[in-house]
Amino acid sequence: MAVSKRGKTFWARGKDWITTQEWSEAEIDKLLALSGDLKRRFRAGRPHRYLPDKTIFLLFFDKSTRTRNSFEAGITQLGGHAHFLTADVMQIAHGESPKDTGIILSRYGHAIAIRHDLVPGEGNRYMREVARWADKPVINMQCDVDHPCQTLADLMTIRERLGKNLRGRKIGVSWAYAPSYAKPLSVPQGLIMLMTRFGLDVTLAHPPEYRLMPETLEAARANAAAAGVRFQVSDRMQDAFDSADIVIPKSWGCLDTMGARPQESLELAKKYQHWICDRAKMSLTRPGSLYMHPLPADRGYEVTDEVIDGPNSVVFDEAENRLHTAKAIMAATMSDKPIPYK
Ligand code: CP
Repeated sequence: MAVSKRGKTFWARGKDWITTQEWSEAEIDKLLALSGDLKRRFRAGRPHRYLPDKTIFLLFFDKSTRTRNSFEAGITQLGGHAHFLTADVMQIAHGESPKDTGIILSRYGHAIAIRHDLVPGEGNRYMREVARWADKPVINMQCDVDHPCQTLADLMTIRERLGKNLRGRKIGVSWAYAPSYAKPLSVPQGLIMLMTRFGLDVTLAHPPEYRLMPETLEAARANAAAAGVRFQVSDRMQDAFDSADIVIPKSWGCLDTMGARPQESLELAKKYQHWICDRAKMSLTRPGSLYMHPLPADRGYEVTDEVIDGPNSVVFDEAENRLHTAKAIMAATMSDKPIPYK
């Protein structure tokens, strides 16, 4: 690794960020180190304009608060510019192909970031087709398979609180009831794939109808075996909480119906309204455990106000880290030269 006056450098020029599975543990460690450096520089008000005159296109097929704003604010702080795009006002709505969209946007700018997360089988395939034809990096802002920007920020938050050595620690990833909308499966899928690589024992809990994509479960099992950690699946919410150091209880839709008939996911979920993160569930966890949620949370359904606003909750640090990790991903993949960090 190159050493600069500021310490180390990291550069992943042109590399797509589509799932964490395609990045090595060493690369993810460096992204997190760079994220921490960018966080310190941002907080100290020190300039870090690593991407002057660079353009990133942010293409959304779904709504967003954290992702859009962390990328837009982040690229500005890095000296570049973002175009906010929605598929409904692009020629995509008239059927323009991902191939043509990818070629054109990559000729105008320096990265293409895409959110396409609500229909199982579509989003990841779409962004891989864009990436096949674009000669600039493609960044996954959440697809049907993974939400790598979220899980990277989650790992950063966990390490800030519990340290880098997470061996022997347990994370519980649980389904929870929410009436607002059938949320994507990609956060729990991304969590079980990433956290099994970084020393954590992972317990996934969900009602039988809310199973995840088989390929993500296979990846999590393989990652756990390679890392020598445990990966367990249960249909009891309390199994995710029992003696956990970290819990991430959140809702998601039914794999089989959420794309075409999301209302069916919501109707079915009504029989699991007792899957809520409340004080009683938190009492099953270890002292000092972390309550996390990628947000938006359905307060009063997925979690009580007492828990999300309570002493175990780190949800706002977690959301803030979306900014620092998004900047690290953009800087590392879009820069013309290695990015220094301490
Ligand atoms: N966690 C997350 O991705 O938030 P948004 O949907 O608001 O972007």
